[in-house]
Amino acid sequence: DEVTQIRSGLLAWYDAHHRILPWRRNPHSKLPAAAVAAAAAEGSHPAPADLPQNEFIYYVWVCEIMSQQTQVSRAAEYFRRWVAKWPTVQALAEASQEEVNELWAGLGYYRRARYLLDGAKYIVGECGGRFPTTAKELQNIPGVGAYTSAAIASIACGERSAVVDGNVIRVLARLRTVSGDPRSAAMTKLWADLAEALLDPERPGDFNQAMMELGATVCVPNSEPKCGECPASASCAALRAVREHEAAGGEPG
Ligand code: ADE
Repeated sequence: DEVTQIRSGLLAWYDAHHRILPWRRNPHSKLPAAAVAAAAAEGSHPAPADLPQNEFIYYVWVCEIMSQQTQVSRAAEYFRRWVAKWPTVQALAEASQEEVNELWAGLGYYRRARYLLDGAKYIVGECGGRFPTTAKELQNIPGVGAYTSAAIASIACGERSAVVDGNVIRVLARLRTVSGDPRSAAMTKLWADLAEALLDPERPGDFNQAMMELGATVCVPNSEPKCGECPASASCAALRAVREHEAAGGEPG
């Protein structure tokens, strides 16, 4: 059916086109071996193939906090330095706020750096150094809310929890032609429901990242989406509406 087509199209697109980010290659992600090998050949800095799951959760947590309010490509540079300095949550928990801020310099929104240090202390002090593996429990970490917990649980633990961020909202709004102010509180549940309904049950982490990636690189804001490159264009209600408008003699766009 249509949902199945959107899922498989989006995942195939993601496997072929996703940007190379250091926290994406890992046995706990479900990327096909060929996609991992291709990215390694392009010079990515993969997480070690034998990285234990707790460390992978740590990586994904750090990268998702860093990626908030910061471009993913820029976060990636900081991420590499970060895990070189603090390879584990235990190492981070022993850092000082000054050291953390020093590495963070240039990223802005220093509250995030404080959350990472406080979060590491929470994981080491209250959880014996083991990250929880469900979105619900992950929200006990300082600074981890609905978005971050769903991202970590799906990417690092395979939980079927859909992420909703600005990119995902734009993709969903176009795919389903939802109008109105997308940021209004009244619509929060609608986006969550639409995202959950679409989420691929076998590869939730990759599917979530594919949605974010599609919004960041193809289904971009304003009037410049690259519909010709979009794996979901055949199912897109907004694109259909534009085509019907043009066919009826209306102005394009
Ligand atoms: N933005 C923030 N986290 C991301 C991720 N894991 N994949 C793509 N875009 C993101």
